[in-house]
Amino acid sequence: MSYENIIVETRGKVGLITLNRPKAMNALNDKLIDEISAALDGFEADPNIGCMVVTGSDKAFAAGADIGAMAGWNFMDVYKANYISRNWDRIVRCRKPIIAAVAGFALGGGCELAMACDFIYASEKAKFGQPEVKLGVIPGFGGTQRLARRVGVAKAKELCVTGDLITAGDALRIGLADLVVAPEALMPTVRELAGRIAANGPLAVAAAKRCIHRGQSMPLADALALEQREFGALFATADQKEGMTAFVGKRAAQFTGS
Ligand code: CAA
Repeated sequence: MSYENIIVETRGKVGLITLNRPKAMNALNDKLIDEISAALDGFEADPNIGCMVVTGSDKAFAAGADIGAMAGWNFMDVYKANYISRNWDRIVRCRKPIIAAVAGFALGGGCELAMACDFIYASEKAKFGQPEVKLGVIPGFGGTQRLARRVGVAKAKELCVTGDLITAGDALRIGLADLVVAPEALMPTVRELAGRIAANGPLAVAAAKRCIHRGQSMPLADALALEQREFGALFATADQKEGMTAFVGKRAAQFTGS
């Protein structure tokens, strides 16, 4: 498939998606989100890929949903098109981990896209915010929900009702970003992390991600029962035999995802 709004590359076992709408600060339109979905479908189906990275440019990770495209819409346009639910959730449904590498602006849907990933690594120059109220709307892809779960209710309210932008340092302090590094260190750091994840047993990585995701919306006892089942199920895999045999034999494991 050829892409107009993103660049899709493979580096070893890591799949890299770079948002590429420089004239619009990587604003997210339907086509771009469809392309991200298609790229993720490809990486999910590829047994050689163990982790994905989503990034943008030095100037913008993504400056939000495309305001020009939305400006003339009415309620029925948004409702009938099932805007956002239709395709944005592909990111959340990924079984393999996704790292957001944020340099520049991550605003509105851009901040929400980053939060839909599993980790947010940011450059010191990154800026985060949910400025939708300045446009007369609210976040539509998790800004009121994932943000509150990440940074707490009061901070999420503050960001969503002021529309203020915050620095990468503040994002790290409140728990929105997971790591902040110098601009030139961002991609090497993210690639190193992605490579370490991709070297692990892929079925185990997917199971760990699934347990943590699903467990968030369960009572603790049910979540622990889920974890027990997933733990047991991994003993039916060749990767468990390989991982433990390799440890005992003092050699590096060669996982096959089977
Ligand atoms: N949609 C469409 N175009 C956008 C855009 C967006 N979200 N953000 C920036 N652009 C475009 C600008 O219109 C401009 O285009 P032209 O050169 O053709 O005029 C170009 O990108 C560069 O932008 P600026 O000239 O504004 O650059 P700047 O450096 O002065 O400011 C900025 C950068 C602070 C990111 C500013 O562009 C800005 O505030 N953008 C809007 C951010 C925003 O409100 N995002 C929320 C969108 S709504 C949403 O995301 C809903 C949701 O929850 C799903």
